[in-house]
Amino acid sequence: MNSPDFDQQMMQRCLQLARQALGQTSPNPLVGSVIVQNGEIVGEGFHPKAGEPHAEIFALRQAQERAKGATVYVSLEPCNHYGRTPPCTDALIAAGVSKVVVGMVDPNPLVSGKGVEKLQESGIEVVVGVEESACRQLNEAFIHRILHHQPLGILKYAMTLDGKIAATTGHSAWITGTASRQLVHQVRAACDAVIVGGNTLRKDNPNLTTHEVAGVNPLRVVMSKTLDLPSEANLWQTDIASTLVITERTRNSKLQAQLRNRGVEVIELASVTPSGVMQLLYERGLSSVLWECGGTLAAQAIADGVIQKIMAFIAPKIIGGTIAPCPIGDLGLEKMTQALALQRVTLQQIDGDILIEGYL
Ligand SMILES: NC(=O)c1ccc[n+]([C@@H]2O[C@H](COP(=O)([O-])OP(=O)(O)OC[C@H]3O[C@@H](n4cnc5c(N)ncnc54)[C@H](OP(=O)(O)O)[C@@H]3O)[C@@H](O)[C@H]2O)c1
Ligand SMILES: [Zn+2]
Repeated sequence: MNSPDFDQQMMQRCLQLARQALGQTSPNPLVGSVIVQNGEIVGEGFHPKAGEPHAEIFALRQAQERAKGATVYVSLEPCNHYGRTPPCTDALIAAGVSKVVVGMVDPNPLVSGKGVEKLQESGIEVVVGVEESACRQLNEAFIHRILHHQPLGILKYAMTLDGKIAATTGHSAWITGTASRQLVHQVRAACDAVIVGGNTLRKDNPNLTTHEVAGVNPLRVVMSKTLDLPSEANLWQTDIASTLVITERTRNSKLQAQLRNRGVEVIELASVTPSGVMQLLYERGLSSVLWECGGTLAAQAIADGVIQKIMAFIAPKIIGGTIAPCPIGDLGLEKMTQALALQRVTLQQIDGDILIEGYL
């Protein structure tokens, strides 16, 4: 009989293992698993990417015959259906494990609880909900994708204490300090795509990569109605990371040809809207999308209902300027009582900056 403390420790280890595949598993979740025999870890695994075996299978392979009578910890309910791989419940039953500790049940209402039931029917003891909120937090994008059939939209911006995201001239490098910017690189590594608008590309010529941080680069997406974009830009260097440009039909066909030659994917839509773009990214199997755009596009994205989470980095600096850009453009709200109030707000100090996060 393992103590609750031990169970929590093992589940935290599952989450640590799961995180090794951050940004690489979509449309699948991040999952880690640990197998314990007589208080000793005899197998560990995580789900590396869609199409590869699930976390429990890797842990079982490592544990081999020591899985018999063991306790299996897994951050998400074992699957009980044939997807691209056979059900993990069958593998756990075949291995003769005696107990399974589950972080959270499968969020998909069609299969939720089915894996737990199958294990219990085979006489395996099942405990559900150990470190559940940490498990849900790690897979918040996956859960959102399953429940709402859209990727999780995260709007991130850096602003001065007086609420500006650039000077009146449009110059914005840099508002926050090194530590905040490094954190942004980590956030990018955990996301499937990053979006900016055409104006941010013209003004900032961003890279939108994870820079020195380990982890894969997200897909870089540019939304531009006009396609009035420079022929030279950091985002056109597709050997570093993939770039997708979304524009309106028949815009700037000369530039379109140049971009395609450089390996940039260009998609033409009848109209370029945040919801249309999120739908397209959902269909491509993406779970999390980081909006790093300016205020005009950010307001459109909020109005379209595709932003669920806000990450606001605030630097203790004042730049001033009545027409200097601010993080969110016009939302058409006239009274302060109509303001969008964030839920589950957290606040942390990142070196000299403050990060406020919350959900819409
Ligand atoms: N501090 C920060 O965190 C931060 C982050 C990003 C940007 N910025 C600053 O913000 C300023 C740019 O702000 P911005 O608001 O113009 O940003 P933006 O990110 O360029 O968004 C606006 C652009 O998005 C494109 N777009 C495509 N579909 C759209 C739609 N349905 N609705 C609205 N726009 C659509 C248009 O590009 P086309 O004109 O090409 O058609 C439009 O000009 C720059 O000064 C930049 O330095 C700061
Ligand atoms: Zn499975």
